[in-house]
This record gives sequence, structure tokens and C-alpha cells, in this order.
Amino acid sequence: MEETHEVELTVNGVRRTARAPARRLLSDLLRHDLGLTGTHVGCEHGVCGCCTVLLDGEPVRSCLMLAVTAAGHEVTTVEGLAAPDGTPSPVQRAFQECHGLQCGYCTPGFLCTVTALLRDNPRPTDRDVVEGISGNLCRCTGYQNIIRSVHRAAELQAEQQAPRQAGEAG
Ligand code: FES
Ligand code: FES
Repeated sequence: MEETHEVELTVNGVRRTARAPARRLLSDLLRHDLGLTGTHVGCEHGVCGCCTVLLDGEPVRSCLMLAVTAAGHEVTTVEGLAAPDGTPSPVQRAFQECHGLQCGYCTPGFLCTVTALLRDNPRPTDRDVVEGISGNLCRCTGYQNIIRSVHRAAELQAEQQAPRQAGEAG
């Protein structure tokens, strides 16, 4: 029988533990062991970006990472992007509003990538957006509505942060 290892990590703010063989991919651990099937798997060799999650806040391809190497780290999947009360994040709202998806297969990866992109660059130019999402492939939308969604998400994020900042100043 294959040897397994205990993998303890924080996923969407919750401490999770699973036993997995050393060769288990992080994408498989999330989907099969932890039941978080929002993370999609497309190419399984680092090309399509479908499987993108945030590892300590940075986008990573979970199909290229062994689950054991994520031990002790914080992982955010698409299931963790909404607020605790279920309110969609600005990025999620914008993709819905601007029709930034069709079949939706690529969408969890885009949402994670764009969340990190806007955290680091809250007012991206078109070029910044195109570069920022260049590691995520979509075969349905032609990208125009995705680019529009990212700009709209930047607006929604700024609106959401404005009252908070005014409150802090006052
Ligand atoms: S499934 Fe990971 S990059 Fe395609
Ligand atoms: S919406 Fe279908 S692959 Fe992107």
C-alpha cells in the first residue's frame, strides 16, 4: 500500500488536515480529499490556469504543486473569495455583471488571479489587465468581457473601500 503523509494547511481560513501520498497534487487534495470542487482542472500541466488558487495570497497553479509542499500554508480557493456572510466579492460581482464567463470552466482560476491582481494594482490599465490574466486561458469568451469585468471589479473594490477609508479617517 502507498505510504501517506498528514497534510495540515489552512484553506479559506479553516484549518484542514488530510492524509495523502507524497505525489498527490494540491488540486487533487482540494477537490477529492477536501471536497472543494470549485477549483477546476483543465490541462493538468500548468498551461491553462483553471486550477489557480491563492497560496499565502499569491496565485499558483495547484496542478503543479504537490499537496505536501502546501502544508503549513494558507490556501484560498474560489469558495473562499466571498465574504463570510456569502456576499460575493467585487471580482465575483463584476464577472457576473459584465458577463465575464460563458461555460464557467475557466472562471474560478480567473477569479483567483484577478483578486490578487487588483490587490496589488487597484487601478490597472488595459495592458496591465491583459498581462495579468495572460496565464489564464478561456476558450469561450474572447476575453473582452473578462477585461471589462476586471475594470468593473476595480471600480466596485474602490467603492467598497471608500466608506471604510472615510470611517478610518474620521
Ligand atoms: S489544470 Fe493547472 S494549469 Fe491547467
Ligand atoms: S467561460 Fe468557458 S472556458 Fe472560459
